[in-house]
Amino acid sequence: MARPRAPLANDPGGMLAAIGSVGEHLLVGHRRGLGAEDLPAADGVHSIAICGMGGSGVPGDMVASLLGHRLGVPIVVSKGYRLPEFCHTDTMVFVVSYSGNTEEVLGMYREAAVRGSRVVAVTSGGELARTAREDGVALVELPGDLPAPRAAVGYLSGALLGVLEATGLGPGIGPDVDHAARVAAAAAQRNGPDAEGSPATDLARRIGARIPVIWGSEGVAATAALRWKTEFNENAKRPAFHASFPELDHNEIEGWSRGSGNGFFLVILRTPDEHPSVAPRVEATLAAIADAGLESEQVQAEGSQALANLLSLIQLGGFVSCYAGLAAGLDPTPIQRIEAMKARLRELA
Ligand code: PA5
Repeated sequence: MARPRAPLANDPGGMLAAIGSVGEHLLVGHRRGLGAEDLPAADGVHSIAICGMGGSGVPGDMVASLLGHRLGVPIVVSKGYRLPEFCHTDTMVFVVSYSGNTEEVLGMYREAAVRGSRVVAVTSGGELARTAREDGVALVELPGDLPAPRAAVGYLSGALLGVLEATGLGPGIGPDVDHAARVAAAAAQRNGPDAEGSPATDLARRIGARIPVIWGSEGVAATAALRWKTEFNENAKRPAFHASFPELDHNEIEGWSRGSGNGFFLVILRTPDEHPSVAPRVEATLAAIADAGLESEQVQAEGSQALANLLSLIQLGGFVSCYAGLAAGLDPTPIQRIEAMKARLRELA
C-alpha cells in the first residue's frame, strides 16, 4: 500500500526545509566559530558556562553532553536570569541567543561583562550583536535566514564547537562535523517532505494525537530527548515529557501505574555507544511498566560518532514533531504563546 505524502500545505514558514538542512547549518556554524576574530585567550580558564534559553539553550546542552566528560574543565549550561556564581575572570562564558534579544540572556551577558569573564556572544544579530560590537566582545555572527531560533540548532551548536576548537579548549572536531553533516543530509532525503512516506511520517502517524513521552539513554540521547520534548511543544503545539536512563528507573516508572499510559506514546532514543547496562535496563523497564498500557517505539541514532548520533536524533525529532503538527492541521512555525509572553513581559519591564 502506498504511504501518503506528508501534508505540507501548512508549512509556509519552511520549518521542514530548515530541519532537512541542519547538517549544512552545522558546517556553517562550525566554520564561523573557527574563524571568529578576537576570541578570548583560553590560558588559565577553569570553567565554561554556556548561557541560552529555549532553542538557543539546547546547543549548550548538546556541547555539554558531547564534550563534558572529555574536557579538563567543567561545562555548565545556564538557563535563567542569573549567571552562576562561579563565573569570574577565568570562566569562558558563551552567551547564546539566535535573535539576540532574549531578556534573560542579555542579563547574563551584562553580568559576565561586569565580572570580567571571557565572553563570546553567539547570535544572528539584535541587541546582543550590537552590544558585543560596542563593548569589543568576541562575536560569532550567524546568518539570520532561518524561520525560528529552534531551527538554528545546527548554526548555534556548530559555532560553539568551532570556538572551543579555535581556542584550544575543545578538541579538533572537523571530521566529526563533516560526518554528522553527511549523515543528516542522507537522513533528510529519507525523512524530508519530498519522501514518499518515511520513518518520520510513520512514527508521527503512530503517535497520532497522543502526548509523547521521550526517554533517552544517558549522554547525548538524554539531550536529544529534551530536544524532542521541546520540538513537540513548539512544532506540534502539545505537551510532551522527557526523561533519561538510568535516572527514570528511580522515579518515573512508579508513575506508570496500571492503565495510566492511555493517551501517551513512549519514544525511546538509543545510541550505539550507550552504556552496556542500558540495553537490559530498557527491556526490564518496559516489562516493569507493561500493565500501564503505554505503547512505545525505539529509535536508533544514525552515524558512527557521537555528534552524528546526536544530530540525527535531533533532526528526526524535528521531522516527527512537524509531521504530527501538520497531521493535526497546525502550522509548525508560529509560536504565538511564546511571542505573546515575551511581548507581555516587555510591557511589564
Ligand atoms: O524556540 C524558540 O523560538 C524559543 O525557545 C527561543 O529559542 C527562546 O525564546 C529564546 O530566543 P532566542 O533563541 O532568540 O534567544
